[in-house]
Amino acid sequence: MSAGSQAEAAVSTERRASGMTFTLEIWRQRNADDPGRMVAYEATRVSPDMSFLEMLDLLNEELMRKGEEPFAFDSDCREGICGMCGLVINGVAHGPGTGTTTCQLYMRLFKNGSRIRVEPWRARAFPVVRDLVVDRSAFDRIIQAGGYTSVNTGSAPDANATLISQARAEEAMDSAACIGCGACVASCKNASAMLFVAAKVKHLGVLPQGQPERRQRGVTMLETMQEEGFGNCTNEYECEAVCPKEISTSNIAFLNREYIRNLVSLSSLRPLVTSE
Ligand code: SF4
Ligand code: FES
Repeated sequence: MSAGSQAEAAVSTERRASGMTFTLEIWRQRNADDPGRMVAYEATRVSPDMSFLEMLDLLNEELMRKGEEPFAFDSDCREGICGMCGLVINGVAHGPGTGTTTCQLYMRLFKNGSRIRVEPWRARAFPVVRDLVVDRSAFDRIIQAGGYTSVNTGSAPDANATLISQARAEEAMDSAACIGCGACVASCKNASAMLFVAAKVKHLGVLPQGQPERRQRGVTMLETMQEEGFGNCTNEYECEAVCPKEISTSNIAFLNREYIRNLVSLSSLRPLVTSE
């Protein structure tokens, strides 16, 4: 082992024994009407192997021991699949990791003794409920606006009854990886939800099973996104940079093509529907 790596190993052993220390500036807000403010806390005895959420748990336990009110934050699976966790850490949605959710971010990525700012997603369509928790039900309404895919009920079809090429299945799976966390909205200066909507529209749109209702789906989901107060895309690419599932902005190009094509074909159908 080189002298440099020996010194690094010694520092890392020492940190594990004594723990790391951070000054956390955390957004506190009682409810949607409270203007809110940043409050500073000291987090001590933090293991470098703790996740960011475990470090917040530790701090909350300490606050409760002292009789102070813990702060609220969201989480569920803590393994990067549910999309519940979401914090702006030092100005970056989900913090400094790449392709990482807040729950999978580890404290060893931060400099011992540093200040860390922790804020909720900030977007008009995601109002703050309390502290670091925001209401993301606007995403649910966008999904509902997409409707459902018609199927003939009955016994389950054979798995190989509908042939799908490997390349097509991979393409659909890459889009289906979106966990609906909202980091794309939080990082966009327009608070646009285009990356989220595009991923949802594409993962069904490229598969044969998603062809029923395909024409309406892209249009209604995009229109609902606008009604919910999300902005439009102006090609900033911030969404792609912070997305924990590395959803590509090429999905947005797919969505734009779907929208224009389907809007034209739907508007040619609308007069027929009205005259009935
Ligand atoms: S596109 Fe990425 S950042 Fe946006 S909701 Fe889906 S997983 Fe989260
Ligand atoms: S808690 Fe489920 S993705 Fe982070």
